Amino acid sequence: MSRWTPESWRHKPVSQMPTDWPDAGALSAVEDELKALPPLVFAGEARRLRERLAQVEAGEAFLLQGGDCAESFKEFSTDNIRDTFRLILQMAVVLTFAGRKPVVKVGRIAGQFAKPRSSPLETIGDVTLPSYRGDIVNGMGFTPDERVPDPQRLLKAYHQSASTLNLLRAFAGGGYADLYNVHRWTLGFADAGPGARYRELADKIAEALAFMEAVGITPQTHPELSQVEIFTSHEALLLNLESALTRQDGATGEWFDTSAHMLWIGERTRRLDGAHVEFARGIRNPIGLKCGPTMEPDDLLPLIDVLNPDDVPGRLTLIGRFGAEKVGDRLPRLMKAVKAAGKRVVWSIDPMHGNTLKAGNGYKTRPFERILSEVRTFVDVAEAEGVHPGGVHLEMTGQNVTECLGGAQALTEDDLSSRYHTHCDPRLNADQALELAFLVAERLKSGRRADAEAA
Ligand code: PEP
Ligand code: CO
Repeated sequence: MSRWTPESWRHKPVSQMPTDWPDAGALSAVEDELKALPPLVFAGEARRLRERLAQVEAGEAFLLQGGDCAESFKEFSTDNIRDTFRLILQMAVVLTFAGRKPVVKVGRIAGQFAKPRSSPLETIGDVTLPSYRGDIVNGMGFTPDERVPDPQRLLKAYHQSASTLNLLRAFAGGGYADLYNVHRWTLGFADAGPGARYRELADKIAEALAFMEAVGITPQTHPELSQVEIFTSHEALLLNLESALTRQDGATGEWFDTSAHMLWIGERTRRLDGAHVEFARGIRNPIGLKCGPTMEPDDLLPLIDVLNPDDVPGRLTLIGRFGAEKVGDRLPRLMKAVKAAGKRVVWSIDPMHGNTLKAGNGYKTRPFERILSEVRTFVDVAEAEGVHPGGVHLEMTGQNVTECLGGAQALTEDDLSSRYHTHCDPRLNADQALELAFLVAERLKSGRRADAEAA
């Protein structure tokens, strides 16, 4: 295999990146500027995430990865970031309590801007324009000007990621995430439904904390009670930015993409000889790989060999995204092949991207029932194959949007128009995401009970 450098992807077939930058010089000037800017994350943090994911691989922890489909410049606000962070904490509490295992928390946040598209062009009426590729590339408005790729957007995305991460770090370490606040995180939920269930759980946790305090286990003796670890992730799609932020760790000489702790390769850019796989193979961050319904074991095994040749536990997370109807057929063959080859990977499920449909009124949406069904089948298949169902990967927001159908509030097609804010795919709202966490927790718990009975 040829030598890897942060730039070696440029010699491979590139897909899903704009080819119509109006001024190549302006783009490379921005890349140079990015190369001189500070890293967003440190090598040591990415290594720690790899260790956490190795625990997931070993069946000792669960991965919760979630956030926006696409972050945007317009929806950037303190409230938005806090609400997503709070939702991740709440879901993690639910999953930890039920699963009796630590939850590794990874946001699709602080860098999740670039979007792969099913078509490079978009036509409305008799006008055809380049597709929107995320705020990091061009604008969402359907005008020729907006759709021109603008390198200044890379810098704006970098700075927005830096402020987002700064706020997340403050929330995680500065008291907000204190487990003693478990009740305060309920703000904003309705009195019935998953919010009410969460309040009951919060009462139980408060009781447990009071008991622990009585026996001398307090935040003073155990600082982990008042802090959480939150990691960031996004799709490594726009390689101009990713390679500009790739730095060599002084201590070990290893290369890390410092734009996020974890990067993933999307379903549309996973070809073995392509630029995205080339880039990912050389960085030492934990890597995710989306595995869709057309993937065969013969596609997957060579990718695993390239992305994790030394079989490092925690390095590679396989993220299935088949759709509720296909997961039962497509997943077992992949799990079997990976297991038979003795490869150490984390298996996670993205129940969003295979379950998108167009509502009667034209909105792109996802039914809650299908999302839940794909997760349940994932757990069933994993248990049948003797593999740890390691995690979930979700598109969700802490905001009360109306983008996915169903859930406890039973959102209908007519409701979609009221708060449909996403810049790309439909996201679970806070209630739907929390409900999903409860239902997944129940399913994981019944698996654990079955294990205990069999033992
Ligand atoms: C995504 O996760 O935002 C995405 C585009 O997923 P996929 O590559 O699986 O379609
Ligand atoms: Co999406």
